[in-house]
Amino acid sequence: MKGWIIYRKPHTHFSEDVYEMRRFREEAAKDNIELEIIPPEAFDLTIRHGDKKTILVNGKKRELPDFIIPRMGAGTTYFVLAIVRHFESLGVHSLNSSASIELVKDKLFTQQILSKSNLPIPDMMLVKFPFNVDLVEDELGFPVVVKTISGAQGKGVFLAENKEKLADMIQLVEVVDDQTNVVLQQYIPLSRGRDLRVFMIGGKPAACMERVAPEGSFKANFSQGATVKAHPLSHEIEWIATEAARLMDLEIAGVDLLFDENGFKVCEVNSAPGFRGIESCHDINIPKMIFRYLRVRLGIFN
Ligand SMILES: Nc1ncnc2c1ncn2[C@@H]1O[C@H](COP(=O)(O)OP(=O)(O)O)[C@@H](O)[C@H]1O
Ligand SMILES: [Mg+2]
Repeated sequence: MKGWIIYRKPHTHFSEDVYEMRRFREEAAKDNIELEIIPPEAFDLTIRHGDKKTILVNGKKRELPDFIIPRMGAGTTYFVLAIVRHFESLGVHSLNSSASIELVKDKLFTQQILSKSNLPIPDMMLVKFPFNVDLVEDELGFPVVVKTISGAQGKGVFLAENKEKLADMIQLVEVVDDQTNVVLQQYIPLSRGRDLRVFMIGGKPAACMERVAPEGSFKANFSQGATVKAHPLSHEIEWIATEAARLMDLEIAGVDLLFDENGFKVCEVNSAPGFRGIESCHDINIPKMIFRYLRVRLGIFN
């Protein structure tokens, strides 16, 4: 089996999957999988009638792999999506699909779809200008969580304690770039500084962990220094995470759940979740499971 991971070490603020890339390589070698990590800009797309067996990589024609794994996460640009769609049009299996990656990149669209199926979610609003802070107070209350529409690793997430702080923050957005989409989310106090991450493979929960933020932070991202511990997969957690991944059509997913007085609320869903945290607190081999899933899914056992 032959596969390509589409990934570039980002020069912006997005994830540095050094651990993940090393683990993918290690496990591929053990399982006799020819794996290459190729940055998106290495590809040239020629959409044509006929020849659907090759693709241009660094200007040279190459035979198609059996699968691709796009790992650009929230750093997925139009260009990256175009490449993934190109592979799909050539009949290459993309883990995950371009449509699902595009969908979860948008935190509001994600919640709209979850809400349609009445999954538990925090209430959410899209910021518009002129900005009406009183309306936010009526609709969501304070404190309120401010998020860029796509983001990862907790880097575009802020807490506005009161009306004045929120008005200041939104004013900053307006002067810097009023084309930036910002969403507001009801703050879930029980979940302050802790949440659950469910790792999904093949649409099924593989493992769950609790993440606890460092003292003073409300964001429980592993990359923000959270500590992690294994958490049991209850029937309820399995059901919510499975539904969320199914509605997004994600084969691989990281589902974030907030602790709420009535159970859990879906915070967001990720298409290229890191797995250093989950492998550190569980006896689990994520890339091995992903490759096994791919072998069964594609029917390739050599
Ligand atoms: N509505 C909320 N209430 C309480 N905590 C939240 C809320 N939204 C996010 N958080 C905290 O902030 C973290 C990052 O938010 P998230 O939406 O998952 O952004 P990212 O895509 O950057 O991971 C979450 O893991 C959680 O700990
Ligand atoms: Mg998150």
